[in-house]
Amino acid sequence: MPTSRRIRKAVFPVAGFGTRFLPATKAQPKEMLPVVDKPLIQYAVEEAYAAGIRDMIFVTGRNKRAIEDHYDTAYELESQLEASGKNALLRIARSVAPEDMTCSYVRQPRMLGLGHAVLCAEHLVGDEPFAVLLADDLMVGPEGGEGVLSQMVRTYNNLGGSVLAVQEVPLDQVKRYGIVAGDPMGDGLTQVRAMVEKPSPENAPSRLGVAGRYVLTPGVFEEIRRQTKGAGGEIQLTDGIASLMKKESVYAYSYKGTRYDCGSKEGFLQATVELALAHPEVGGYFKDYLKGLAL
Ligand code: G1P
Repeated sequence: MPTSRRIRKAVFPVAGFGTRFLPATKAQPKEMLPVVDKPLIQYAVEEAYAAGIRDMIFVTGRNKRAIEDHYDTAYELESQLEASGKNALLRIARSVAPEDMTCSYVRQPRMLGLGHAVLCAEHLVGDEPFAVLLADDLMVGPEGGEGVLSQMVRTYNNLGGSVLAVQEVPLDQVKRYGIVAGDPMGDGLTQVRAMVEKPSPENAPSRLGVAGRYVLTPGVFEEIRRQTKGAGGEIQLTDGIASLMKKESVYAYSYKGTRYDCGSKEGFLQATVELALAHPEVGGYFKDYLKGLAL
């Protein structure tokens, strides 16, 4: 059923501790770790903005103030850059928070899981479909093509049900993902019939793993609220969606592009190397540098 309800809001759960990056994350949010010159959170916010979303909702926790500061005006920095005529840098500083974008913050007071984090944003989302972006997953669309969330919003507009970004993952890694299975519909789409959070390889219904991008209908809030603790003793978003699936259509969409799992050191390093190679300022130099290494 095609829908005309536009996706206007995005939820960014950013309350997690980022223990895999200690000591770097002892006193700063993991979402502020930079890949080349931009913090992880900014890649996700830019992806949402490119998909036409202007209301950004951050579900934060203690020690996350740097994220709020990043999306605020930096008066001293900006007046300093202005006074010294450093206009290019001033543009970079100001472009972080475009004027037509609004940011809201809500705290997740206890670390009860991703589903719980999304539920903390319910009163800010209200009764409309919305996107969820996990900044740990840095998504790069195909060269010259649409970003991953833009592809998903388009899919949502065509189908009118919740859309989950998926990719095939190796069997020995299914335990790191929400895994979905269902009926293939062509064009990289699957109508989801089963969804399990972090299954063992023996219990995985498929190898289709959910990446950190979701377009969800507001009905998911009610379903999350009914969940008890799931995998890892947490209130899981996956369980809420699995329950939503019994009432509404939920689709898995094989996105076009590349995902870097920046929640792991390996993925973070891959993102750093590949985005540095593609970077207009340092890419050429960095390529020569890598070629010169005696590996
Ligand atoms: C979360 C979700 C999981 C999803 C993953 C994608 O897990 O719970 O379903 O597949 O993000 O990155 P986390 O990585 O937070 O453990």
